[in-house]
This record gives sequence, C-alpha cells and structure tokens, in this order.
Amino acid sequence: MASLGLAQRIRIGLDGNSGAEFPMMGRPRRSLSSNYGRSRVGFRIMASEGQSVEPDLSVTVNGLKMPNPFVIGSGPPGTNYTVMKRAFDEGWGGVIAKTVSLEADKVKNVTPRYAKLRAGANGSAKGQIIGWQNIELISDRPLETMLKEFRQLKKEYPDRILIASIMEEYNKSAWEELIYRVEETGIDAIEINFSCPHGMPERRMGAAVGQDCDLLEEVCGWINAVATVPVWAKMTPNITDITKPARVSLDQGCEGVSAINTIMSVMGINLNTLRPEPCVEGYSTPGGYSAKAVHPIALAKVMNIAQMMKSEFGHKDYSLSAIGGVETGGDAAEFILLGANTVQVCTGVMMHGYGLVKTLCSELKDFMRKHNFSSIEDFRGSSLEYFTTHTDLVKRQQEAIRQRKAIKKGLQSDKDWTGDGFVQETESMVSN
Ligand SMILES: Cc1cc2nc3c(=O)[nH]c(=O)nc-3n(C[C@H](O)[C@H](O)[C@H](O)COP(=O)(O)O)c2cc1C
Repeated sequence: MASLGLAQRIRIGLDGNSGAEFPMMGRPRRSLSSNYGRSRVGFRIMASEGQSVEPDLSVTVNGLKMPNPFVIGSGPPGTNYTVMKRAFDEGWGGVIAKTVSLEADKVKNVTPRYAKLRAGANGSAKGQIIGWQNIELISDRPLETMLKEFRQLKKEYPDRILIASIMEEYNKSAWEELIYRVEETGIDAIEINFSCPHGMPERRMGAAVGQDCDLLEEVCGWINAVATVPVWAKMTPNITDITKPARVSLDQGCEGVSAINTIMSVMGINLNTLRPEPCVEGYSTPGGYSAKAVHPIALAKVMNIAQMMKSEFGHKDYSLSAIGGVETGGDAAEFILLGANTVQVCTGVMMHGYGLVKTLCSELKDFMRKHNFSSIEDFRGSSLEYFTTHTDLVKRQQEAIRQRKAIKKGLQSDKDWTGDGFVQETESMVSN
C-alpha cells in the first residue's frame, strides 16, 4: 500500500491537458478485506431441518464487493463499452478492460494475429480448441475514447467492479499521468500489465519490466506513490521464478497479484508452406499461449505465488487473482483451492461467449454443495498445504509402506505385545 498523506500535484502536457494541474493522492485507499491462508472447515448452514442454504459466491477483495469471483481478464472481451456492458449484464463479478497506454497511435497490430491448437480430428478445423496463440498488442483505441467509455460504464453500473489495465514506458511522469487519468473516470481498481509477452520490449513495456526485478521495483514504487485505488500487478509466466516479481510488487505497495499472462510460444509450422503461424506476409513472431492447454502451468505458478504470499505476507490483506485456461466451474474451484480470491477468464469468453459466467457460477455452486461449502472463504486455500517437496514425498511413502507392512504382518507372537496401541495390536492378531 502506498504511503500516502501529502497532496501531490503533478503537471501533464498531452491530449489537450497541457499545463493542467491536478491533485494527486492524499486519499486513503479502500479498506482491505481478505483473510489470506486462514484455515477453513466446510460446513453446511441449514435454513431449517434438512434444507440446505444456497452456496454464496459473493466475494470482497481489497474492499471491492463482487457478486461472484469471476472477472473478465484483460483482452478482447474488454475491448470497448458495448462488450463490457454485455459482461455486466450477463453477471460477471468484475471486468478488467483491455490494456491502455497514453499513446494508442504507437500501437500497431497485424492480421492474422491468432492461431489455434486443436485436439482430435487430426488437428483439423473440427477438433476442440485446446490452445490459443495471439500476437495481439494492447489497445490501439485512443485513450480518450476508452476513458469516456469507463466513465459511462461507471455511471450506468455504479455498483459493479470495473478495473483498468494499464501499461506504460519506463517513464515516471507517463505512469503518473496515466494513473491519474484512469482514476478520474471512477474505475474501482487498476491492474498493471507487467506481462505482455510480445511487442514493444524496445519501449521497455510489459514483460520487459515484469522480467526485471530492479525495473519492476522502481516502477511499482512510482505507481504506488500515486495510486489511490487498489493496484494488482499482473505477472508473466515467462520467467524462472514467478515468486520474485510477485514479492517485489507486494513489497512495493501493490494490494494484489494477478497470474498468469500468456506463455511465450510458437504455435506451429505449416507443413505445406513451411512457414510459421500465425503467418503475416510469410513471417511470424513468437506469441502468447492461452486456453485449456495452459491451465496446468497456471495452476503451478499460482500455487508458487500462493505459497510465497502465505508464508511471507500471510498476516496482511493481499489478494491473488488467478488466470489461465478457465472454462468450467471446476477449473475455477482449483484456483480457489490454491488460494485465489478471484478467477479471470479471457480466451474462454472468446470461445464460449459472455453467457459462460452462468455455467461457471452454477458449476462452482455444484462443487460447493458437494463438499458442503457455504462460501468461497470456506475452501479458499484449502489444498495449498498438500504441496511439498519430492524428498518429502519419498519419506512419506516409505513411512506409509512401512506402516502398511506392519499392519499386514500383525503381531507374530506374544512376546511382541507392547501394550501401546493395545486395540490395534489386538486387531492385528485377528485372522481375516
Ligand atoms: C487475444 C488476447 C489478447 C490479450 N490481451 C491482453 C491485454 O491487452 N492485457 C493483458 O493484461 N492481458 C492480455 N491477454 C492475456 C489474458 O488476459 C490472460 O492473461 C491469458 O490469456 C490467460 O488466460 P486465458 O487462458 O483465460 O485466456 C490477452 C489474451 C488474448 C488471448
């Protein structure tokens, strides 16, 4: 959390705001409210004898109240007013808009920019999509247009959570200006895109910052000195140890971590043309991989971050937003069992539409009913303690085998009686 107190004033000089002076900071951020890593026991609340209460999917994350933990992940499903409005109408818990920057005209996209990996049907167009690659950049729509749409959405949906995703160059005043301008629209939180894997590394944007902990520390410091709404830092999986940037972001005042962005990939080579895909004028470039195929990798990264947060930041109210290959309520339950407060979906919405949230909610409720969980907090983080080292697994297995052998053998003669665990010793003498 930024140490705020003094009103700060900065000057901006772009987009018609030249010379305008505006107040920055001074307002305390929203109160925080998560109980990270608390141990939980599932229980069923009975409305009356024999009748169970409907599971409650609502969550409060960094003070943000959502009807369910499902959030639209930054990308095409949050491109403009029309689609974000659709997301709210369908019932998404929150929406993260497509990433914006100050100068949209520097963002140059190409077509085609997507490629898909299909399972079954010999990879034909009929097979199920399991992997999705994109070489899409951040939003190329003018910032002013996006800001106008944020304002409109907050006017129409004041109680719904709208999160701006932002990315800028390695330039303190650019970050300060961008934060001020998105906050001014009334958005509820900011997600920082420290993770876009393709395009603009030469401008030191996206993953170029997220992969360099020194740069990240500095930029997070700038951001949290001025931001007055909760800030989530979105992590790239394209790094050896994802806990390092996550730790730096939280140490530097971010309220939450989001993970993962897409995984660097080459989707394939066309065996007829011998050209890589997606093929733009005969050439390609590595892009970001998403959808079902990345879910196991995302689970591992989220597990690593959750363990780090529990051991190093467990006493504080930080949040974790899990992303990667979510298409079912079960996929989401897995992330929550690892400690996620919210679950983001991007490619799943591109494939199944905004109505997917209804299926996600109903499947998550089915899971909760099955285990008698009445709220998300009842099971959040419950599976985290069952991860250990391989060395520990070997020890546990050796001990389990020893115990099973001992039970099988039973006591061989009266001289083996110890009197400890008398009941078990007696049982072991019974022939089956
Ligand atoms: C076409 C496309 C565009 C994306 N654009 C952005 C973006 O602008 N900003 C961002 O933070 N993440 C972006 N992402 C990454 C997603 O938000 C998400 O982190 C990733 O795709 C993994 O989740 P998923 O499997 O649910 O898609 C994009 C993903 C896709 C597929």
